[in-house]
Amino acid sequence: MRVLDVGCGKGELSARTADWGMRVTGVDFSLSAIAAARDAHSGRGGLLDFHLYDVTATRSFVPAPEPVDLVVCRLSFEFVDSPRFMVHLGRWLKPGGVLHITSAIADRMPYGVAHRGIAIARLAELRDAWKHVTVYRLHDNLVGIALRG
Ligand SMILES: C[S@@+](CC[C@H](N)C(=O)[O-])C[C@H]1O[C@@H](n2cnc3c(N)ncnc32)[C@H](O)[C@@H]1O
Repeated sequence: MRVLDVGCGKGELSARTADWGMRVTGVDFSLSAIAAARDAHSGRGGLLDFHLYDVTATRSFVPAPEPVDLVVCRLSFEFVDSPRFMVHLGRWLKPGGVLHITSAIADRMPYGVAHRGIAIARLAELRDAWKHVTVYRLHDNLVGIALRG
C-alpha cells in the first residue's frame, strides 16, 4: 500500500505508517521540517522517503507525488485546504483511495487559534462531496475523518 503524508512535518506519522509495512512518502514545504524528518528517520530503509513539496502550488519544479492508496493529513489539512490542493488530490489518489484527516474542530477551539482546526461547516461540505465519510473521535477535540469516493 502506498501512502502520501501531506504536511509531514518531522515525519513521525510517516515513520509510524512505514513501520506498519506501507510505502510512505512524506511531503512538506518547510525545508527545516524535511531536513529534520530525513535526519530522524534516515535509518529505516526503503519504505520511507521525504520530499520538499508545496501541495498547494500551481507549478512545481520537483516531480509530483506518485498516485497512492491513502493520503494522510495530520494537523495539516487546515493549512492546505484549498481548491488547488483538491485538484492535486484528485490526481494523487488512486481510484477507491482514501483521504484521512486528523484535525481539531475549529468551532470548539479558543478564539484566535480556530484556524488550526476544521470548521463544522467545512466538515459538512466534505460530507457532501465524498461518497463514503467516517468521522470518529480520537481524544479531546481531535477527530479522525476518513473520506473515500
Ligand atoms: C501542524 S504541522 C503538522 C506536522 C505533522 N503532520 C504532524 O502531525 O506532526 C503542519 C505542517 O504542514 C506543513 N504545510 C503547511 N502548508 C503546506 C503546503 N502548502 N505544502 C506542504 N506542507 C505544508 C507545514 O510546514 C507543517 O510542517
